[in-house]
Amino acid sequence: MKKLFALCALAGVANLAAAAEIVGDAKRAEHKVEMCIGCHGIPGYKTAFPEVYQVPMIGGQTAKYIENSLRAYQKGERKHPTMRGIAASLTDEDIADLAAYYSQQK
Ligand code: HEC
Repeated sequence: MKKLFALCALAGVANLAAAAEIVGDAKRAEHKVEMCIGCHGIPGYKTAFPEVYQVPMIGGQTAKYIENSLRAYQKGERKHPTMRGIAASLTDEDIADLAAYYSQQK
């Protein structure tokens, strides 16, 4: 059991090291945004779903803003259940790529 924890800790450190080097690539995000398009319409702003909830416009926000928002959902600082679920499924690279992609939109 102890070994497992040690491994996890190591993996955590490796993850952090990798995160520092990740540079967002908008091109790489092109297939990743498929899971965002239904709600955050592209280009611009559409409220396809959910009907009762205003979906914020994320195209054209700064990369840092998008990245921070997604991390806040991951950590549970922001509570919207759908976005929490989505953010939880994203890797650091996904977040960097998506942030690059949306920040380049007008
Ligand atoms: C099922 C609909 C849905 C999907 C799919 C979805 N979002 Fe969202 N998103 C929302 C809603 C609704 C909010 C506003 C939630 C809130 O108030 O916290 C939101 C908020 C956000 C925010 C914060 C924006 C702000 O101005 O505060 C970001 C960034 C974001 N989404 C990125 C994404 C990305 C990237 C994807 C794809 C990986 C995605 N979303 C997929 C519905 C969705």
